[in-house]
Order: sequence, then C-alpha cells, then structure tokens
Amino acid sequence: MSVKISPSIIAADFTRLREELKSTEEAGADMLHLDVMDGVFVPNITFGPMIVEAIDRMTDLPLDTHLMLIEPHRYVENFARAGSDIITFHIESRSKPRVVIKMIKELGKKVGVSLNPRTPVRVLYPYMDEFDLILVMGVNPGFYGQKFIPSVLPKIERLLEIKKTGFKFQLSVDGGVNSENARRLVDMGVDILVTGKYFYSSKDRKALVAHLKNQV
Ligand code: DX5
Ligand code: ZN
Repeated sequence: MSVKISPSIIAADFTRLREELKSTEEAGADMLHLDVMDGVFVPNITFGPMIVEAIDRMTDLPLDTHLMLIEPHRYVENFARAGSDIITFHIESRSKPRVVIKMIKELGKKVGVSLNPRTPVRVLYPYMDEFDLILVMGVNPGFYGQKFIPSVLPKIERLLEIKKTGFKFQLSVDGGVNSENARRLVDMGVDILVTGKYFYSSKDRKALVAHLKNQV
C-alpha cells in the first residue's frame, strides 16, 4: 500500500481557500490536515471549529484535525461536530488521555495522539491499543515551514516496530517533510505524510503526490 498524503491547510493561500481545497483534491491527496493552535500549548493561534466546519462544507476529503490545545477535552466535541474524521490530541496536554480517548470514541471519530520531538514513545504504552493514529512531530509544533529534526527518526523506527507486533494505528509524520526526507520516510514504512510548505509551495502538486506515492 502506498503512503497517504495529508496536506496541511495552514500553508495554503487562505484568500483563495476554495480553490486551494479543489487543487488539493485534484492533486490526489488522501485527507486534509487541519492545525488547530490555541496560543497556549503552542506560541501561535490558527483557527477553530467554525473554520473547520466551513472547510468541511467545501471538500469531500476526510478531515485530519490536529489539536495543539492545552485542554483538548474541552473542545473535542466542537471539532467532532464541525466535521473532523480523525481527532488528534497531544499527549503533553493537560487533559487526561483516557478521558480524551473516550470522548473521541463516543463521538464516533478516529482517535489520534501526537508526540512532540522530545517526548519518548513510552508515555504512550498504557494506551497503545486505543489509537487509530500516532502523529510523530518532526518539528516543535507552532509553525509550518520549519526544519525537520533528524533525532525523531529513531522514534519513528521504534513505533513502526511496535506496530508490527499487532497494533492497528497508522503512523503519521508531521512537520518539516521535504524533498530531502520524504523518500526516506516512505521507505521506512510511514503510513501518512503530513505536508504543509512542501505541498502548497510546489508548482505541480499532482506530480508531487504521485512522486511520493511511487507512481512515477
Ligand atoms: C506544526 C504543524 C504541522 C505543520 C506542517 O505545528 O502541526 O502540521 O504545519 O507544515 P510543514 O510541512 O511546512 O512543516
Ligand atoms: Zn499538524
């Protein structure tokens, strides 16, 4: 199975959001990554459920919502109702993981968890069975267009080994994916690549997706 591509809309041109969404679909993206930032968990603010809902009305792509929120349990329901298909929270947030996981499941959505570059895999061990997605950050969250931190590569390898022992989660890498590391990540066996700047600044988005999926 080829890698799935999840373009991160924060790197798109928001003055032309509808066209950008159409172009993302036409390029062959598998889902759309939505970076929600609260200015507390990360030093930046993006958008909330209102924009997610508008995006959901403009695209048929599944919505891969990445909550960079200090207390995700307070907003999970709003993002579910706004049309998110996968809801990813940070294990470093202040909410209790079991509570957030239960809420997302009861809302009928897929459960994702994200790990900052310095967070070790072992913090996930108690909940490993519960996740549909593990989102490994390749940068410190907050901004698109940052440089990939290579020291996260062993963590990706470790999680791929754990997955082979019989877990259902998809492994996604988010932040700093570019022309230099994308091939390597695909070859390692990553399931999903999130891409902001690399995708939205590409002159030929369709060719880029085909390239990453090994179709050319
Ligand atoms: C970082 C975000 C990422 C990022 C991806 O806080 O979670 O999704 O925007 O953008 P690039 O690929 O440009 O790093
Ligand atoms: Zn993200």
